Amino acid sequence: MPSVVSEVILDVEGLCVDYGRLRAVDLVNLQVRKGEIVCVVGESGSGKSTLAGAALRLRRIAEGSIRFHGQDITKLKARQLNEYRKAVQAVFQDPFGSLNPRLSIFDILSEPWVIQGSDFPKSEWRVRAVDLLKQVELPPSDLDRYPTEFSGGQRQRIAIARALALRSELIVCDEAVSALDMSVQRQIVDLLRALRARTGVALLFITHDLGLVRDFADRVIVMKDGKVVEAGPTAQVFDAPQHLYTRMLMAASPAQDPDIQRQRRAAFHELSINGEKEAARAPVRIRSPGDIPPLSPRAQASLQAWAPLFLSATRRVGVTSELPRAVRILGGAGEFVSVLHRLVNP
Ligand SMILES: Nc1ncnc2c1ncn2[C@@H]1O[C@H](COP(=O)(O)OP(=O)(O)OP(=O)(O)O)[C@@H](O)[C@H]1O
Ligand SMILES: [Mg+2]
Repeated sequence: MPSVVSEVILDVEGLCVDYGRLRAVDLVNLQVRKGEIVCVVGESGSGKSTLAGAALRLRRIAEGSIRFHGQDITKLKARQLNEYRKAVQAVFQDPFGSLNPRLSIFDILSEPWVIQGSDFPKSEWRVRAVDLLKQVELPPSDLDRYPTEFSGGQRQRIAIARALALRSELIVCDEAVSALDMSVQRQIVDLLRALRARTGVALLFITHDLGLVRDFADRVIVMKDGKVVEAGPTAQVFDAPQHLYTRMLMAASPAQDPDIQRQRRAAFHELSINGEKEAARAPVRIRSPGDIPPLSPRAQASLQAWAPLFLSATRRVGVTSELPRAVRILGGAGEFVSVLHRLVNP
């Protein structure tokens, strides 16, 4: 664990990011210290990726600032910008789309050295690349293989190895394990933690699954509708969540143990019922995901209006409920979470 007094490397202050009239990130404050694992959790659309995008300089900042080692990242000169791009790396969700299928693993791992420059001669690149594979527990022989020959979990290992190629100080992981099976998720999270311990790299780890971060994060930040609704040391957030929304996220997190899963489902149901009390009376039935119509402009508009009702939906379980206009559906990876992007439109 890094000490609480270690140096702040990333300092986000009053950050706002807009898409047209939508304020997707709204006055977010967040700090990442050297070697720290900070997890940002929140349901789909809460602004997590937009925050990550701003930190990676992929999104324009409307208000507030992001500083890296005290320097405003929007004001970096060419050389400083190159340093920033070396120091701050990213691993994204899609292990199939993020690696160019035409490049060998060696080409993929050495690409950062081609683009950003390397501190060592080209003759050493293969040895260095083998070392990167070793760090993510893949054999040297993988160097001459191609991305299509690997599983999703192995591809994420390769993406992580690439993120380490430049001895990065911070890796922004946006749903980096969400597309993977639960047991593989755990392996990758364990790997990231081991890498942090060995290399001192800090992680800004973004996920919609709060359960995943419990033994992993040093600090947790919970986002909802672009705002931070809860933030604190992991134990504090888990043991004494202040916000109802945090409790909902906890209950919505999938568990491998069927007993724990049942308990969570029950807790989730209870929270849903509590939320439902305020709902009005238009009955809607969802028998299967196919019953959910595509998102209409009107539905989109009503999704913006917050309805205090949450449902969980799976492929097998139908849901019947009464609600006013909008339904928010919470679920973990593999639990038909894409439903989150749609809305019941009676
Ligand atoms: N390129 C874009 N143009 C317009 N609106 C966008 C764009 N990207 C995201 N949004 C909107 O901004 C809000 C925040 O989106 P964002 O992708 O940051 O959420 P998220 O928390 O990462 O969600 P998810 O868990 O689904 O990845 C959402 O309302 C989304 O619809
Ligand atoms: Mg996202």
